[in-house]
Amino acid sequence: MTKALVIFGLGLLLLVNYGQAEKEKHKNKQQQFMSNLLEDYDVNDSPTANTSDATKVYVQMFLNSFGSLNAANMDYSIDVFLRQSWYDERLKFSSGYRANKTRITVNDPSIQSKIWKPDTFFNNVKDAEIHRVTMNNILLRLNASGHVLYSMRVTLKLSCNMEFKYYPFDRQECGVSISSYANTDDVIKYHWVDDTPIDLPDELEIAQFDLLNFETSETTQHFVTGDFSGLVVQFDLRRQNGYHVLQTYIPTILIVAISWVSFWLDPNAVPGRVSLGVTTLLTLTTLASGIRQSLPPVSYVKAIDVWVGMCMIMVFGALLEFTFVNWLANKKIVDSGRAFRIPKIFAGSDAEQLACAEDPAAKPPATYMMYARALDRLCRLLFPGGFLLFNLIYWPYYLIQQYSDPEPITVER
Ligand SMILES: *[C@@H]1O[C@H](CO)[C@@H](O)[C@H](O)[C@H]1NC(C)=O
Ligand SMILES: *[C@@H]1O[C@H](CO)[C@@H](O)[C@H](O)[C@H]1NC(C)=O
Repeated sequence: MTKALVIFGLGLLLLVNYGQAEKEKHKNKQQQFMSNLLEDYDVNDSPTANTSDATKVYVQMFLNSFGSLNAANMDYSIDVFLRQSWYDERLKFSSGYRANKTRITVNDPSIQSKIWKPDTFFNNVKDAEIHRVTMNNILLRLNASGHVLYSMRVTLKLSCNMEFKYYPFDRQECGVSISSYANTDDVIKYHWVDDTPIDLPDELEIAQFDLLNFETSETTQHFVTGDFSGLVVQFDLRRQNGYHVLQTYIPTILIVAISWVSFWLDPNAVPGRVSLGVTTLLTLTTLASGIRQSLPPVSYVKAIDVWVGMCMIMVFGALLEFTFVNWLANKKIVDSGRAFRIPKIFAGSDAEQLACAEDPAAKPPATYMMYARALDRLCRLLFPGGFLLFNLIYWPYYLIQQYSDPEPITVER
């Protein structure tokens, strides 16, 4: 009885084991195939380890999206499909594990890790992320002739040296630089693919910027640790002006124009003119500090500084002018003989009084009020005229340098 039970038990065990083995065999066809292929494979050796040549790694990037440039931190972010391909003779196979299959996509991370891959890194990266939703965004594909395609989706935050001399009418050159971290150029040599090394989506929107052009190049970097092959792509970007014209230039023009209202008020309207001058000056200061916040504290003068500086001078000038006018309006005339003669056009309604003043018989006016009024009238022309002249120089100067070059690139499909 016990014997029969033992035999039955053993038989059951065998059956279960056999079933599992069969299942395993079925499930891991790719694993079996790959383990055969990788039998004598050393993941530490580059494909050309036995020869004197370097392994040529061909790179292509598909630019998924281009994040906005962050001026304050001098960086920008991009989302790319980084595609690297190389030839590994050891991975040649005559037929795949399924009939007529000349390409194998390796999904299993444990197998992926057994295949040699270049140790590419981004020289100017600040932060990087590989996407894992819903699966690792990695493609590793072999074909029968031994070519490997290794593609991954990465979101990168890259540093970019920006120059703000012409801000906000600036153009920036931001690049992506890749290279091998540990393998010198006699082991790995990078090349851009011949056909469209940088692939752009149909509609590439970059906040505030137009992509004018890009330039790819192959480099060799010399460090104390050796010479490393690398690749660089530089994007030529031009800032769109709409945002700053709406948010900065138009408001400041209005503030400056409002400060001129003061010239039409009475020289003795102290509360009105002082509050007008001080309010406009304070508003301008607030606006200026808002602009400063989005920029790094660079030590040179930017285009926006020139503008804000000029607006400050205009508003401050109007306030100073009032101080002088008010002082004049209240100053008692001591010696009318030495009085300055006011031209007719600025005399206005004071012309009669002026005539009286010239007449020695007439009673001299108590104060220099008419001079004050004349000065106000002069400033009504002088201030807007000066500001207009400044604008006529400012805008062409900065816009010409910004638009002196080609139109934004259009993607050809
Ligand atoms: C494999 O290719 C051959 C010739 O190209 C074809 O006759 C055959 O039907 C293919 N087999 C499968 C399973 O696709
Ligand atoms: C493998 O890929 C390379 C490069 O894409 C190609 O030149 C080659 O013809 C492919 N071989 C096969 C068998 O598909």
